[in-house]
Amino acid sequence: PTPPKSELKALYKQSFAYYTFRVRLPSSLATIAAALVKDKDELITEYGADAGADIEQTAAAVTELRQNILNNGPLLPFRGKETDTDVWNTFLETIDKEKRNYFSTCWLYAECYMYRKISDIFQSTKSLASYDYFGNQKKTAAKLSLDAMLAVARATRNTARDGDTFRQLIKLNLWGNRCDLSITSGKQIKPTGNAFEQITGLEPKLLIDNTLQIWQAIDGGSKDGIVDIVCDNAGYELYTDLILAEYIIDKGLASKVRFNLKAIPWFISDVMAHDYHWTLQFMADHEDEVLSELGKKLQRFTEEGKFELSPLEHFWTSPYEFYRMQEVKPELYKRLQEAQLIIFKGDLNYRKLLGDYSWPDTEAFETCLRGFRPSNLCTLRTVKADLICGLPEGVSQELFAKDKEWMLTGEYGIISFAKTA
Ligand code: F6P
Ligand code: MG
Repeated sequence: PTPPKSELKALYKQSFAYYTFRVRLPSSLATIAAALVKDKDELITEYGADAGADIEQTAAAVTELRQNILNNGPLLPFRGKETDTDVWNTFLETIDKEKRNYFSTCWLYAECYMYRKISDIFQSTKSLASYDYFGNQKKTAAKLSLDAMLAVARATRNTARDGDTFRQLIKLNLWGNRCDLSITSGKQIKPTGNAFEQITGLEPKLLIDNTLQIWQAIDGGSKDGIVDIVCDNAGYELYTDLILAEYIIDKGLASKVRFNLKAIPWFISDVMAHDYHWTLQFMADHEDEVLSELGKKLQRFTEEGKFELSPLEHFWTSPYEFYRMQEVKPELYKRLQEAQLIIFKGDLNYRKLLGDYSWPDTEAFETCLRGFRPSNLCTLRTVKADLICGLPEGVSQELFAKDKEWMLTGEYGIISFAKTA
């Protein structure tokens, strides 16, 4: 099926994409530049005396990038020698030259380009190439969610192996996606109260609930099977991924859960390998016994290979929609075919599943996947961008009548499932 012609892009002044390029992304870039200046001494201590000049150079380059975006500058080819440089440059070539700028090209491509560009700026320095400029924000967010983590740990210690519990944990995992930092341009949000108890109250906000089909797919699958989680954000959301994965292993629903993480700092809060290890250590070191036992247990799972970090994969930080994976990265597609269930987390993964198009909101999820069906797959996404599919007739009209910004707040969630082809 061909997608509708209406691509999301920042050219339309009423669009969320426009607001993103005018306000949200420039603000995130200003934060990076300011933090470099503020943390200069610490960075020099950690990365050596050479870092001083690199800090000034990167802060200036980040500020210039911010200005380029505001001026609707061109998306120029990358010059560095990173693993994915050619993939990116080939991709950029496929965009019509007159549309190859921040506001005229598809929102998804331009936004991914910006994050890749920031990475490029740091990669081009000697001393700061391995510095995660979003690292502090991710750690602060994780620490802020400690109360929610403790409540969830306590509520999930003695669970039954049944569909009801599994479905609750999927929902817990969905709502964890509210805590991403890119939607707020980095402003911290603290999850409050006992998230496990809140799930029932959130039921009216859950617009599509395919949790039963997900349970059936995993319960009916092989006990030696693999579950892939294509992760989204670090902090509390990652914590809920871990809780779900723990359940999958403990209850024998699969023998391995693979975590697919980002190779470069991405959309502020996305999980990288060091965030994963930091989180487990943060839990293991905590004075609360329940949390620290859990942290140690998950570290053991990681050592034993029950939890596995998938090899770093640049496809996840490429601009490609997933329907093109089989052609662009066939090895990854094959790897995902090994799983009995793939869980795609979050809003950006959803955008890549559908492409940045205004699909009719009632279009079938399977149709929008455009043949991307490596295995049984599901998407857990709180709605933070103006695209959606699979809604029952009339629902979006009702929501628009109540709040014309309902698609941008992360208040609503969807859990969609598609069976393997
Ligand atoms: O739509 C707002 C936004 O910041 C997008 O840029 C991006 O798709 C998404 O949210 C990031 O959210 P998530 O962490 O859920 O992928
Ligand atoms: Mg994210």
